[in-house]
Amino acid sequence: MDIYFLILGIFIYLNGVDSKSKARKFPQNFWFGASSAAFQIEGGWQEDGKAPSIWDVVVHSEQSPVKDHSTADVAADSYHLYKKDVQIAKELGLSFYRFSMSWPRILPNGFADRINQIAIQYYDNLLDELIAHNITPIVTIYHWDLPSNLQKLGGWTNPLIINWFLDYAKILFDKFGTKVKQWITINDPKEICHGGYGSTSKAPMINMPGTAEYMCAKNILLAHAIVYHAYDEQFRRVQNGMIGISISFRWFEPSSSSEDDHQAAIDAKMFDWGIYTNPIFGIGGDFPLEVKRNVRSKSAEQNYPWSRLPELSTVEVGTIRRSADFLGVNSFTTKLVYRDASVDGMYPVPSYMDDMGVVLVKDPSWTQSIANWSPVPWGFFKLLVELKNTYDNPPIIVTENGWPTRGGLLDEDRISYLRRYLNALLDAVDEGCDIRGYSVWSLIDNFEWFKGYTEMYGLYEVDFTSPEKTRTPRKSALMYKEVIKTNILDPDYEPEKFLVEAP
Ligand code: NOJ
Repeated sequence: MDIYFLILGIFIYLNGVDSKSKARKFPQNFWFGASSAAFQIEGGWQEDGKAPSIWDVVVHSEQSPVKDHSTADVAADSYHLYKKDVQIAKELGLSFYRFSMSWPRILPNGFADRINQIAIQYYDNLLDELIAHNITPIVTIYHWDLPSNLQKLGGWTNPLIINWFLDYAKILFDKFGTKVKQWITINDPKEICHGGYGSTSKAPMINMPGTAEYMCAKNILLAHAIVYHAYDEQFRRVQNGMIGISISFRWFEPSSSSEDDHQAAIDAKMFDWGIYTNPIFGIGGDFPLEVKRNVRSKSAEQNYPWSRLPELSTVEVGTIRRSADFLGVNSFTTKLVYRDASVDGMYPVPSYMDDMGVVLVKDPSWTQSIANWSPVPWGFFKLLVELKNTYDNPPIIVTENGWPTRGGLLDEDRISYLRRYLNALLDAVDEGCDIRGYSVWSLIDNFEWFKGYTEMYGLYEVDFTSPEKTRTPRKSALMYKEVIKTNILDPDYEPEKFLVEAP
């Protein structure tokens, strides 16, 4: 009898474990999509009245920081080939396509004094094409391509940008709001502020760590919130859409069970993304206590008469709090965190990293992408559950998740990554997370910022050397297509085409 129960136990245990690697169903009406961004795919950088963005300026500078010295002048040429992109979205069976509109294409001066009608027509055609094919557009209003004119005035560090951004966004609502029902105000504030103003890793490479990035953060939050309220008050009743923001998230796992490392992981989370999520989604709003406390005390030590983090007034806290209908989650990886004496003197003073005061590492046993980050699906799961628990289970759309390769159609590593992350997402759904949709970064290969064309994220490969910028489905595209068609994640599915063609 004992043996019988033992065998039964083993059987149940194995089956239980195994069921995780068996086919799993997505919730009904789950939205599947793919994402892109104007600067990365459009090209047509000087066409039909478009003015340069801060990215055009940087990639054309003499000392170009782009790895392969390429530009996005033509990129995937989606300015001319948008119908091919929609065709791909159709082939994949996507329920939505997330793309961004280019501020300097629509408003070449940056200001709303002159609207470029050809640009309006371009986006209108793209929207019509999507709608004709039954694909829902999700539009990012700002994905990093600031009109270079506005950067001359300080860009995201000038508080007047709140009004400039509002003017631009209202034009989009006005022109496209009958066709667009899902808006994302801003993509990845941290990359904009920390990358663009606090360091040199993104345009406009201002590199004023510890000051400019916090000024930018405050202005981004207010710009986002004011646009949200404008939509709410002036457009929602008639247009009846949703408006959110996409934030980049990493999970931070303490390296040990020590109290120091536990606190270090909290600080890392609050500096990395809490600085944006807390003010919008936190119960009481405002910047996280950890961020206010660290920057305030370090600023005082460093002789600043004020905190380098421009804090939010009570009125500003109220404006920003609850200013989103959904949270867009961009997430690719996880880091381990610790804090010990080695952190003193590790980072420039002042800087955001010094304010955070932690050491970020990878587990040496983790594999790595060509972009030097590691796939850690359990970190994605923990992140989604923490967002649910901390922010009262907000509606989430995973607006970016994907894997870079050097190219080629047989992308087994991308397939494995996407499957493992989708599996983690389903675990989070089982935990009660309100996840409405998921979008792969990216629909097609594109210009990967300072990595140029050396890192390819597309479900479809783009032949950048061909005049037609030929698009070809990768194996991962066929895998994703099957997921969408069946609404099931099946780890054993093999696309027929690749069964035949693989060596
Ligand atoms: C986040 C950004 O939003 C996107 O533009 C970028 O290409 C991907 N991550 C991959 O790095």
